[in-house]
Amino acid sequence: MTESSFMLEALELAKKGQYTSRPGASVGCIISKDNKIIGEGFYEYFGAKHAEIVAIESVKEKYQNFEEVLSGSVITVTLEPCSTFGKTPPCIDEVLKYNFKKIVIGNLDPSQSSLDRLKKSGMEVVIEQLPNGLNKGFFKTLEKHKPYVRAKIAMSEDKKIAFINDDNQWITSPESRLDSHKYRALSDLVITGSGTIKRDNPALTVRDDEIIKLNNFIQPARAIVSANSSLDKNLKIFKTAGRKLIFCTEKKVFNDVEGIENLNLYEIKESDNQIDLSDLMKKITELGMHDILLESGPKLISSFIEANLIDEFIIYIAPKILSNTALSFFNGDDSKSPFYSDEFELIEESVIKKDKKLIYRRKNGTE
Ligand SMILES: NC(=O)c1ccc[n+]([C@@H]2O[C@H](COP(=O)([O-])OP(=O)(O)OC[C@H]3O[C@@H](n4cnc5c(N)ncnc54)[C@H](OP(=O)(O)O)[C@@H]3O)[C@@H](O)[C@H]2O)c1
Repeated sequence: MTESSFMLEALELAKKGQYTSRPGASVGCIISKDNKIIGEGFYEYFGAKHAEIVAIESVKEKYQNFEEVLSGSVITVTLEPCSTFGKTPPCIDEVLKYNFKKIVIGNLDPSQSSLDRLKKSGMEVVIEQLPNGLNKGFFKTLEKHKPYVRAKIAMSEDKKIAFINDDNQWITSPESRLDSHKYRALSDLVITGSGTIKRDNPALTVRDDEIIKLNNFIQPARAIVSANSSLDKNLKIFKTAGRKLIFCTEKKVFNDVEGIENLNLYEIKESDNQIDLSDLMKKITELGMHDILLESGPKLISSFIEANLIDEFIIYIAPKILSNTALSFFNGDDSKSPFYSDEFELIEESVIKKDKKLIYRRKNGTE
């Protein structure tokens, strides 16, 4: 193996924790010597040992003379080692105990400051500045104090997203719907509007067996945005285990759902009789949530688009024409939609059964 391939290996390891490390970052680490991997680790769940520590411990387990083996080796880690006490002691102290020849870091962590100590130790330090693929919400929150927002939308060929009559519900195939559960699993919070909750009664849980069987997988929190509707306590979202939130303008309107287990209500500022979305983003950040998935109907999604709050659109398009049986995406106005907006670019296009899947991402990083 070449030294440059170790970062790719470390990224693959980081991916192993992508559904379980929330709200922590996904991090992978490889220790190599003479171009061979001698140790590896990843951050598995929030509060677990960090990737560097797991990798160092894997070397300790394999070699009695681990100090000798680690001396002169290279440690490749996707994120700067931490320098502060969090759920675990600072990794930098452990890294500096061994005589590593070199450290290769994928990305610096703006909340940590290990770089000076690493450089002063005499170790060679290389920083690669990887694209932030795995930890978008983590970096966005640190840099902009706002969560990374993905919006998932199912639509027909003629860009209709909500049936007018109650007897229809699904636009896309079961396979596309299951695919979208991956994005729920990557999120700290899945969020929808009261319109969708009342009409579709979704549970909004992750039901992908491959993901839910992972050790330490925890369902993301689920939230309803509702300025002042009354909600029935028998809705599926309330009947399923896990953390639930209501973002409202006045808690007292929600007396009917009082006492539901694991449900918290948060008052958000009002704007035109609706939830003020910038105050909502602030609250979500205060709650320590970095990645959110919006799965709402046309009203809430239009408000998010108008407020310029979406970083990524995941769009499933079924080969159907719904014409006047359904409502349009973004009220039929394409000017700000990702299809025609200069601010977004198509970064992925694939096919799931008969549906098309398109991912559009903001061109210049995050908003
Ligand atoms: N195709 C898809 O991907 C998809 C996904 C989800 C849902 N849907 C469909 O969408 C339909 C429901 O659409 P919808 O537009 O009525 O529901 P929605 O967008 O999910 O919820 C809208 C409600 O959210 C509340 N809200 C609070 N603050 C808001 C704000 N700033 N902006 C907008 N809304 C705010 C309002 O109710 P309050 O009076 O309670 O404040 C508003 O009526 C259903 O037919 C469902 O099947 C489609």
